[in-house]
Amino acid sequence: MVKLMVNEKEYKVDVKPDVPLLWVIRDHLKLTGTKFGCGEGLCGSCTVHVDGKAQRSCLIPVKDAQGKKITTIEGIPEDHPVKRAWIKEQVPQCGYCQPGQIMEAASLLSEKKDPTDEEITAVMNGNVCRCGTYPRIKLAIKAAAKEGGR
Ligand code: FES
Ligand code: FES
Repeated sequence: MVKLMVNEKEYKVDVKPDVPLLWVIRDHLKLTGTKFGCGEGLCGSCTVHVDGKAQRSCLIPVKDAQGKKITTIEGIPEDHPVKRAWIKEQVPQCGYCQPGQIMEAASLLSEKKDPTDEEITAVMNGNVCRCGTYPRIKLAIKAAAKEGGR
């Protein structure tokens, strides 16, 4: 049995301790906003926040997430500056990578209120978008930074 705190709610899940957090979030907690892409830490589609920092949930054995504060895309309020900027700049195309992009961007802005282009590129580099929405992602991050990030 594993105890998790996800989006400020406590869960007890009957899973093996080495199962990746991503599987538990999607299959057991039914929080399907977080996406499976590569399962190897290479695409960023599974990005969640662990104690406020962006992490690849496909690489975290669920036992290591115990006692930590996990936030998924469902736990980011609709009025969060990053979500609002994403809508304003019409970022998504197919949308598949976007929860991971938003989680990464929110984590970046919580650490750097006004990141430079280079800083944005360096952090967002590991979040792959097959639709090539990168220019709009950058615009949205800048718009969110103007609004005060969070
Ligand atoms: S599914 Fe986790 S990085 Fe690709
Ligand atoms: S919007 Fe389609 S993969 Fe990024």
